[in-house]
Formats: sequence, structure tokens, C-alpha cells
Amino acid sequence: MSNKFVMVGGGSTQSPGILEVLRQRAEELNLTELVLYDIDEERVSLLGQYTKMYYQETGSKIKVSFTTNIDEALVDADFLFMQIRPGLNRQRAIDEKICLKHGVVGQETCGLGGFSFAMRVIPAVLEIIKKVKEICPNAWILNYTNPEAILSEAIYRVFPEAKVLCICDMPISIEGAIASYFNKDLRDLTFKYFGMNHFGWWTNIIDADGTDLLPQLREDVISGKIDTLLQSNEETKEDQYWIDTYRQMISLFKRFPEYFPNCYLQYYLTPDEMVAHEDLNFTRGDYVMQGREKRIYDECRRVIDAGSAKDSSLHAGVHGNYIVDIAYAIIHNTRERFTVNQKNHGAISNFDSEAVIEVPAYVGSMGAETINIGEIPTFQKGLMEMQKAYEKMTVDAALSGSYQAALEAVLLNKTIPNYTVGKKVLDELYEVNREFWPILI
Ligand code: G6P
Ligand code: MN
Repeated sequence: MSNKFVMVGGGSTQSPGILEVLRQRAEELNLTELVLYDIDEERVSLLGQYTKMYYQETGSKIKVSFTTNIDEALVDADFLFMQIRPGLNRQRAIDEKICLKHGVVGQETCGLGGFSFAMRVIPAVLEIIKKVKEICPNAWILNYTNPEAILSEAIYRVFPEAKVLCICDMPISIEGAIASYFNKDLRDLTFKYFGMNHFGWWTNIIDADGTDLLPQLREDVISGKIDTLLQSNEETKEDQYWIDTYRQMISLFKRFPEYFPNCYLQYYLTPDEMVAHEDLNFTRGDYVMQGREKRIYDECRRVIDAGSAKDSSLHAGVHGNYIVDIAYAIIHNTRERFTVNQKNHGAISNFDSEAVIEVPAYVGSMGAETINIGEIPTFQKGLMEMQKAYEKMTVDAALSGSYQAALEAVLLNKTIPNYTVGKKVLDELYEVNREFWPILI
């Protein structure tokens, strides 16, 4: 059996890390054909040409092509790796600045940055899934596209039977950091986690002997023995944003010591501290455009001009390995444990059964079978209920084009202090996103 993989958003700056892992692990995936598909002709052509050379010169047998034609790309596809960004990082930076100008969080997945991104991305992703259902209905879609929490809610609402797994590399990255703190192999630890994407908590960290390491971690944080964790992610450990974020995550745990928090809770539990830290003239979107984007496309141009990739290399990190591990688990029916976004269906017994949640699951050829969490405490449940209502109303707004639904969604976001600010930010975001959002009436 041979597999054809399609990278949807193949021109993305997140592609190189995945391309490297696919190259290294092609055999175990039975991967024979790879298509980079993107609506951005220039970017997909740069990465496509680069990949062809790089693969060929490193002895890969995978047949590589690139295209802006989705109908062509999807023929006979077995796996889609999807990560798209309508409006690119340019739009991300514009959103961040509008939010920050009004003193609220503009991060691309949390706060109204996430709302705006969701309004751009939901219609685009649903269109793609519709195509998949027509052209390659048996294909699996592994989705990294953000804002994953809201997007997964939209996907499972519109296509409840779709073969889609919505994933994020943050839980595994934090788990890797915890493992290295305890000097353990990540594979020897079992984590229990619940919440929604970029909005969750670890309740247990079980080692090979069955001991829960969470109490030890709590003690070390409360006693001041540690104020950060070493990052497992090679790509981010030199990046000031991530250095600060890992520190803030420990600071959150100190202040809310019941469960260990996903770092993105910093935007909901300490939004004032996050906003105070931001530079209105140089946001994360600017940083990514001037850093990763420039570096990657410049390198593609250099290699293409030189006619050889022999002095170029790609880095295989957590992000690439995680998605490939999941594809492997599906292909070989390993039933290995991964954190994924799925409908609750009773996993959290005191939470909306139809809501999409993020929990560990055993992944095999049937997809993901989530673990049982049971009851969650009032504090986390309360936060999740408000956030889930926000996510659902954002999906309502994106699907119906209702301005009132959009406004109510915005008011349900915990980062928005009142009607005046919420409406102003919403209206300004709409104004600069007219090309991408559905029309709101
Ligand atoms: C983590 C998150 C992703 C997010 C990325 C942002 O990996 O899990 O959801 O897209 O960070 O990275 P960036 O460098 O674009 O800010
Ligand atoms: Mn993520």
C-alpha cells in the first residue's frame, strides 16, 4: 500500500519542519507521493521547488509536486496535513494592533485576535473539507490550522462524520518540558489533561512506576525552587516570547496550584499583565514576518538560484514529529495516546456533551477514542463554559453572518471588559477584514 499526502497551506512557514519529518520517515508511512497545495502561488512555488531539490539531493524517492489547484491536489489523497492562514501574518499583525490599541489581548488564538482569525478561517476550511468529501472522501485530515478551538467546533458541527483530527503541538511541547524537568523519557510518562485547545489543565503526570509527579512539581513551584521550565522545543527556546510564556505558565501555576495550566491561559487569567508587556509597534505578527517568514523564503530563493540544496538543511522538531506520529498511529493502528480535539460525548461528565474539548485519546485506524475525565471542578468548568459559549457564538456568526451573534460572541470573551470596548474592537476588526470575513448584517 502506498500513501499520497497533501499539505494544504503547503506554502506556510510551518511546512519546512513537517517536510523534513516526512522525508525522514517516508518509509514507515508508505509515503510515495507528496503535493504542496496553497492559494499563494509564489510561496508554494518557492517551497515546492526547494522541496523537490532537497528531497532529490538527499536521496528521497517521494514524488513531489506543487499546485494552486485544489481539485488536482486532492485526487487519490490519503492524508491531508492542513495549516492555512487566510490574510497571512500581515492580517495577524493588523488584528493585534487594533486590539492592543483598545487595551485588550490581540493574540491570534486567544482574545479578539482569535475571533478575527476564526472569521477568516472558518469559511475557507469548510470549503476545503467539502472538496475532500467530493474528491477523496476516505482521506484523513490532520488539522493544525488555528484558532483550533473555534475551528474544531465549526468543523464537527458542519461535518460531524468527517475524518478530521484537530491537533496542537502545545500540550506535547509542555509535556516534553515537564519530562525533561523530571529527567524522564517523555514516552514513560502518562499525562491526564482536559480543557479546550489553548485552554486546558493537567491533572496528573504519572511516571513508569505509577507515581503522580504533579504534587512534586507543585511543591517545587510553590517553594520557589523553579520559576520556569526548560523548553523541549528547539525552535522556540531562544525566542523571547516563548521564554516569557514558559515563565508566566509557572507563575500561573503558583497562583492557581490545583492543576498545571496550559500556557495560553495567560491570556485569560492575567490579560492585564500580557497587554502591559506588548509593544504596539512591534507585535508577534511583525516578529514572525521579519524573522521566520523572511528566513525561510530567502533560503528557498537562495537554493533555487544556486540550483542545488546541498548546503541547506531542514530541522525536524516537535511540530513535525507530532503530526507524523499521529498519521503513523492511524496507518498502523497503534492506538497510541495523543491529545486531540474531539466532541466531549461524556468524557467530561459535567460538561456539554456536544462541545468539542481537548483531551488525551487513543488513536488508531478508527480515529481517536478519548479517555474518561469524569467531573471537573467549578473554577475550570466555569471558565470553560463561558469560553465554549464564546466559541459557539463565533461559529454561529461565521456561519450565519449575524452581526448580533458576533457582538454577543465578543462580549462572551473573558478578555473583553465591556460593551463599549467590545463593539469598538469588533467594528474596527470588521473594517480591516472585509475581504476575508463573511458579510455581517
Ligand atoms: C504554538 C501553538 C500554535 C501556534 C504557534 C505560534 O506552536 O500551539 O497553535 O500557531 O505556537 O507560533 P508563532 O511563532 O507563529 O507565534
Ligand atoms: Mn496550538
